[in-house]
Amino acid sequence: MCGIVGYVGPRPVQSLLISGLRRLEYRGYDSAGVAIVEGSGIDVIRKAGRIAELEAELAGRSGQGTTGIGHTRWATHGAPNTINAHPHRDCSQNVAVAHNGIIENWSNLKAELIESGHVFQSDTDTEVVAHLIEDMADLPLEESVRAVMRRAEGALALAVVRSDEPDLIVGARRGSPLVVGLGDGENFLASDIPAFLEYTRRMAVLDDDRIVAVRPEGVTVTDLDGAVVEPATREIEWDLESAEKGGFPDFMLKEIFEQPGAIRDTLRGRFDSDGLVRLRELDLDLETARSFNKVFVIACGTSYHAAMMAKYAIERWTRLPVEIDIASEFRYRDPVLDDKTLVIGISQSGETLDTLAAVRYAHAQGTTLIAVTNVVDSALSRESDAVLYTRAGPEIGVAATKTFTTQLVAMQLLALWLAHARGSLDDAVIQNAVTAMSLLPDQVEQALTQSDQIREMSEQWADRRDFFFLGRSAAFPVAMEGALKLKEIAYVRAEGYPAGEMKHGPIALIEEGVVVVGVATNSHVKGKMLSNMEEMRARAATIVLVLTEGDAEGEAVADEVIFVPWAPELLSPVTAVVPLQLLAYWLAKKRGLDVDKPRNLAKTVTVE
Ligand code: AGP
Repeated sequence: MCGIVGYVGPRPVQSLLISGLRRLEYRGYDSAGVAIVEGSGIDVIRKAGRIAELEAELAGRSGQGTTGIGHTRWATHGAPNTINAHPHRDCSQNVAVAHNGIIENWSNLKAELIESGHVFQSDTDTEVVAHLIEDMADLPLEESVRAVMRRAEGALALAVVRSDEPDLIVGARRGSPLVVGLGDGENFLASDIPAFLEYTRRMAVLDDDRIVAVRPEGVTVTDLDGAVVEPATREIEWDLESAEKGGFPDFMLKEIFEQPGAIRDTLRGRFDSDGLVRLRELDLDLETARSFNKVFVIACGTSYHAAMMAKYAIERWTRLPVEIDIASEFRYRDPVLDDKTLVIGISQSGETLDTLAAVRYAHAQGTTLIAVTNVVDSALSRESDAVLYTRAGPEIGVAATKTFTTQLVAMQLLALWLAHARGSLDDAVIQNAVTAMSLLPDQVEQALTQSDQIREMSEQWADRRDFFFLGRSAAFPVAMEGALKLKEIAYVRAEGYPAGEMKHGPIALIEEGVVVVGVATNSHVKGKMLSNMEEMRARAATIVLVLTEGDAEGEAVADEVIFVPWAPELLSPVTAVVPLQLLAYWLAKKRGLDVDKPRNLAKTVTVE
């Protein structure tokens, strides 16, 4: 997730780009840059860090250009430094490109371009676009961008300027957002509305596989064959604050609803044409992958719940024994580690001190360390032997939502990859799991359609003080996460517990007024789970069940049900957790709380 802004018109573009980028900083903030058309050339100024750093770099610059593009980055390929900051240029420096998305076939394109003499400056996938356009210097810019869109695979939102067409920005969109702001004698291009809302309230919506030529006097939208397409236009009624939240009342709800896209991005390019898992960036040789005799997964908070799910997946698919550890406990218990141990550290921020300290301790014993994180070049990724990135984009709400579901998906990918490397699963089994994984974004989308129903349901429990979240097997981590969400944003006591363990003590707490939320999605222990829920019901608790669509047997046990689409047992946590996020969200809202900034919490905990 990155932010793009572009402007053509009479105004000096530099300050306009900076204010637009500030409005998009929620989309990414590890580096930023602008490309401004000045006379017969293009000035490109880029800087690692937040927009303020770029602004300082631009202070005192004398250019007065009125056409330009800007970019704020959330790294997916290449470290977040100045060299990898966008816009990127070709060898001749006549082309500048800002990109949001992931070009899946970039390494093939890059190899081909290097072979034909192009020299690359950055480690990004984006730079291939600038060099491809350079090779089509005799075509109108619009045509060359169209040709790039035909060759590039994956998700692309592009903004491109070329020095010989100074009053033109060409944009293109597939999979990543891009909207056009329609002004009077001036026009805008951006990843999101807030970037231009100060200047115009009229916008044009771009569909996928559209090319847009943006000039001061107007915009032309065409398809991949060059046919002109009339875009839908509309007036924006949001104020700036709601525009930054995409029309949602809070970042948390926006991020809950971003999960289908975040999961899609996390899966993108990670399956090969044989239907197996391909983790090119993992950079671990097969011999190493085959040498492991045990696995530790270490994390905190929500990331620890992803670790819990990973234990089920890795053990079942690879037959390697897995231990999971809360990071702040790990190094104080003298764990047994050696050079045959694989350690996986999960942290959305990659900066959680407890997790860093734990994995450093493990790494120092000669283990192999894999990081699963959302932040490129975070401390965790720098210190690891290999990194698997979740691609959720920045998460602003303190409560982890989209980073959690993408962690689940990343760990499922990693488990399948290990299973293939070690030969512990037949290809057909992996292919089936891959097919099921590719359905997850749409299934999560479907689960989200119940938001209003969950709001209405939860309103009746606004004053309840005791909640239990129960699950068995792979649904147990989901229950743990549901309880954590409720605690942290609604300030309600909630226990996450393995359903079968309730009878050994906690069942003494069950009485009328207690809400018991059970996760009873597809599982080989679903029957046992439903029996456990009957035990809760017999003690007069209010029973809420998350069930697989069409589960009449489960429905009969519950006071309220929330259905999610069917998924194989080890994948079902991804959809099953979504209603629990919404339940916590709506209960917190009903209680009038600030869900984005819950009390006493920090997004990243950098103290022990
Ligand atoms: C999740 O909602 C919490 N805010 C918190 O538990 C968080 O998951 C934990 O602090 C770990 O953070 P990390 O993933 O950045 O390491």
